[in-house]
Amino acid sequence: MLDAGRTRAGVAADATRGLLVTGAAEVVTLAGGLRRGRAQGDPVIAPSGTAVACLDGWIVAVGPAPEAEEALASALAAAGRDSGAFDRLDASGATLTPGLVDAHTHLLFAGSREDEVVMRARGRTYLEILAAGGGILSTVRATRAASEAVLLAHGRRWLGQMLRTGTTTVEAKSGYGLDVPTELRLLAAAGRLAAEGPVDVIPTFLGAHAVPQEVRDAHPGDPAAATEAYVSAVIAEQLPAVAAQGIARSCDVFCEAGVFTADQARRILLAARTLGLDVRLHADELAPSGGAELAAELGALSADHLGSPSPEGIQALAAAAETGRPVVAVVLPTVPWFLGLPAREPARELIEAGVPLALATDFNPGTSPVTSLPLAMTAAILTLRLDPSEALVATTVNAAAGLGLRDRGALLPGLRADLVAWDVPTHVQIPYWAGSDLVRAVVARGRVLPNA
Ligand code: NIG
Ligand code: FE
Repeated sequence: MLDAGRTRAGVAADATRGLLVTGAAEVVTLAGGLRRGRAQGDPVIAPSGTAVACLDGWIVAVGPAPEAEEALASALAAAGRDSGAFDRLDASGATLTPGLVDAHTHLLFAGSREDEVVMRARGRTYLEILAAGGGILSTVRATRAASEAVLLAHGRRWLGQMLRTGTTTVEAKSGYGLDVPTELRLLAAAGRLAAEGPVDVIPTFLGAHAVPQEVRDAHPGDPAAATEAYVSAVIAEQLPAVAAQGIARSCDVFCEAGVFTADQARRILLAARTLGLDVRLHADELAPSGGAELAAELGALSADHLGSPSPEGIQALAAAAETGRPVVAVVLPTVPWFLGLPAREPARELIEAGVPLALATDFNPGTSPVTSLPLAMTAAILTLRLDPSEALVATTVNAAAGLGLRDRGALLPGLRADLVAWDVPTHVQIPYWAGSDLVRAVVARGRVLPNA
C-alpha cells in the first residue's frame, strides 16, 4: 500500500506541475497498439534508464532520463512556466507500467449476495437461483431502493480498492435497475464518479441484463413472452432515455441461453447503434448462445466472458480480426473460479486463432466480487495458461481498445499520464505474487496518489 514514506515528499501535487518518473528497473511501454496472436505476448520493454515525463495529465516524453527531463523542461518553458518546477518520483527497483484498464465491471449496485455462495456449495446453479427470483433480481430489488448518494458512496469505496491494485480506468455497467429511473440513476452515478476521478469511469448501459420481476409477473407461466415484452421496453423506453441522458458510451446485452437470445440482443444493439452508442455483449458465458457470432457480425467493440463459445463463434471472431474489424475478447477468469466451475474460457485457442484478448474482473455481487486486476491476471496464468506478458497486454493496451479508448493503455507521449510503479523488478512477477499488495505508487492523470 502506498504511504507518504514511500512516495517522495511533495509529489502529490497538482497535475499542472510536471512529473518525472525515474530509476525503474523495468519500464514496460505496451507501445504498438492492439495486439493479437503471437504479438499478444509482446509487452515492449524500454531500454534500461528510461524515464517518463508527464505534464498537465499527459505523458510528454518516454526515453533516456536526461532526454525526458530536458523534454519536460522545454514543455514547461514553452508553456511560459518555470522549466525547473516539476516533481520527481523515484521508482528505483520498480516495474513501471501503464495504469491498468478494467474493461468489464458491474461497479454500481446495492447489497451483497454471500448467501448464494452457500447455495451453490449445496448444489444450486447460478441460473437456477436467478430463475427463482434471486441472483441478479435480488440485487435489482436492493438497487432500486438505493439513492444516488448510496450508490456514489458504494462506487467510491470499490473504485478506491481498484486503484490500490493499479487500476486507473474502469468500465461500469448499469443493469441492476431494469427500469428507466433506476437505470438512469446508475448511469448518472457512473458519470459523477468519472467527473470526480481519480479513476476514470466509462459508463455502459446494460438494461438487458435480466427480465425484471414485474414483467415476469405480467406474463405468468410464459417466460418467453415476458422476455419479449421486456426487450420491447428496453428498445422503446429505456434506450431513448439513456441516449437523451448522454452518459452511457456503449450498450451491452446478456446474450445467453435462458436470458436473452442472439436475435433479441441483435435488435437491442442495432437500436442502440442508431442512437449513437457503441455495442458490446456478454457472450456465451455459460453455454454456446450465438453471442460470439453476433459480436463479429455487428463489429462489436468486445465480446465478453466467452466461457463456452461455439467453434463457429471463435472462427467468426478470428475472421473479424483478420479483416480489420477486430472484436476484443474480454475474458473474466475470476468468474468460473468464484462460481466453483472449471475454467472453460478457451483463451489459448482465441489467441492462437488471432483474436485480441483482454482480461477484466467482472466486479459484481454475484459471480465476481473481485476488484483486483492483478488477481484476475493470476487466475488467467494459472487457469487459462496465459503468459504473464500476455496477461499484461490483456489488462492495458487491449483492454483500452476493447473500450474504444486510444488515449491510454501504453506509456507513450500524447497518452494519458496514468501509470503504476510496482514493487517488483519485472512485470512477470505481477501475477506471480498471487494476492499480494505490489503497488508502490499510482499516477492518475499526472497526479501521484499518496493514499492509493
Ligand atoms: O457478468 N452474467 C451476467 N452478469 C454478471 C453477473 C451479475 C450478477 O450475478 O449479479 C456477470 O457474470
Ligand atoms: Fe459481466
